[in-house]
Amino acid sequence: MTLHTLVGTTSGNTEYLAEQLNQWLETKGVSTQLHDYPNIQEVPLSQSAWLVCVATHGAGEYAESIDQFMQDLANQKPDLSTVKVAVLSIGDSSYDTFCQAGIDAQSLFENLGAQIVGERLDIDMMLDPDPEVSAQAWLATLYDRLI
Ligand SMILES: Cc1cc2nc3c(=O)[nH]c(=O)nc-3n(C[C@H](O)[C@H](O)[C@H](O)COP(=O)(O)O)c2cc1C
Repeated sequence: MTLHTLVGTTSGNTEYLAEQLNQWLETKGVSTQLHDYPNIQEVPLSQSAWLVCVATHGAGEYAESIDQFMQDLANQKPDLSTVKVAVLSIGDSSYDTFCQAGIDAQSLFENLGAQIVGERLDIDMMLDPDPEVSAQAWLATLYDRLI
């Protein structure tokens, strides 16, 4: 099965992280597809697996590239019960709304019936010296349950 990596970025950090994770997954024999600007017409909404990498911007809002997708999900309310999802949340703990976009994304996926795999990882870009290493270590614990 192909793992669909959905990117929520405004300034590019999360896209870079997602690309690194996809490269690592490919070395493990996992087929991946990166969605830089996830589109509800293109991301499979049934029988699929998603790795959602989402940064928080504004005052706890979704990063630009995934904002429309999340709005479309919230409005159209597709049944995601055959979708497995792992959420990687990117933020900065100097904000009160630390990693709020990842929290909200996971909550919406759950409300739409998605199967959440593993525990969401909240990466603190201010304090974590090596976000790629943290993200990869987290993904290593769950990717085989995701696909
Ligand atoms: C204008 C602005 C607002 C931000 N707001 C938040 C926030 O509310 N919560 C949070 O955890 N991080 C916040 N951040 C930190 C970003 O999530 C962090 O810089 C992240 O690396 C951005 O990822 P991106 O380059 O993929 O967009 C904000 C950053 C900026 C520049």
